[in-house]
Amino acid sequence: MTDQYYVIGNPVEHSKSPEIHRQFAVQTKQTMYYGKFLAPVGGFAESLAALIDEGIRGANVTVPFKEDAFMCCHHMTHRAERARAINTLIIGDDGKCFGDNTDGVGLLTDLTQNHSLDISQQRILVLGAGGAVRGILEPLLDQNPDRIVIANRTPGKARSLARDFSDLGEISGCGFDDLKNRQFDLIINGTSAGLQGKVPPVAPGVLRKGSITYDLMYGREPTAFVQWGRHAGAAEALDGIGMLVEQAAESFYLWRAKRPDTRAVIRDLQT
Ligand code: ATR
Repeated sequence: MTDQYYVIGNPVEHSKSPEIHRQFAVQTKQTMYYGKFLAPVGGFAESLAALIDEGIRGANVTVPFKEDAFMCCHHMTHRAERARAINTLIIGDDGKCFGDNTDGVGLLTDLTQNHSLDISQQRILVLGAGGAVRGILEPLLDQNPDRIVIANRTPGKARSLARDFSDLGEISGCGFDDLKNRQFDLIINGTSAGLQGKVPPVAPGVLRKGSITYDLMYGREPTAFVQWGRHAGAAEALDGIGMLVEQAAESFYLWRAKRPDTRAVIRDLQT
């Protein structure tokens, strides 16, 4: 049987993952099937069990199931344990699940390799304190930034998240109002405000000349946060399409031990 993989989510119809993995498979001459699976909210574990019974070799997990996947996995990488969220499942011959989280490394590869940015000694502002942000903090801190400040609508969540990662570097949490008179080199939007076409209430004064903004989200049109970055005078206002392809490439490597050419796929998705 052809090796089968799925992206499991809800909604999942608009996922670009099947097209990304199709291109990776063609490039690296892998015979595999990669499909979409719509799991009911509250029914992730049952859906995964059914797919494992069918003999799938792996899966990507997307919104809103990354934490459900974490709860389902008994074995996982250290970075997935820190993130408390899993986006990649590898299914062994015995049907057991091994979990990983490739979101953070995907972001880092996009920033440092595709955009040639050096994160070390940078002042980083991260907006939001949900699951998406939890997944990127460890790889960002690994780069030895000057500091990371997490700002969130609910400041207590930002402080608590910062405490969870404080053993890895200089990191603190606050509310949006606490950002007055503070400037950052890199501003990453990890809130879900963009789903309603909104941006978090942050003053453009957080940018210095040359600051870069990065939205973890992406879209066919520039996202609300990309537009905000441009208006605020960012040297570059990036969206998360590169991160999407890079996290997929890490999953692909875990499953197939092959490294695809991600830049060709990113270019293709941008046209
Ligand atoms: P995800 O898994 O996508 O990160 P989440 O865990 O629900 O989703 O987190 C969503 C994040 O976006 C939270 O930080 C949320 O702020 P709260 O913690 O105060 O809820 C933030 N968020 C959502 N809508 C927002 C908005 N309109 N303005 C600012 N922040 C918003």
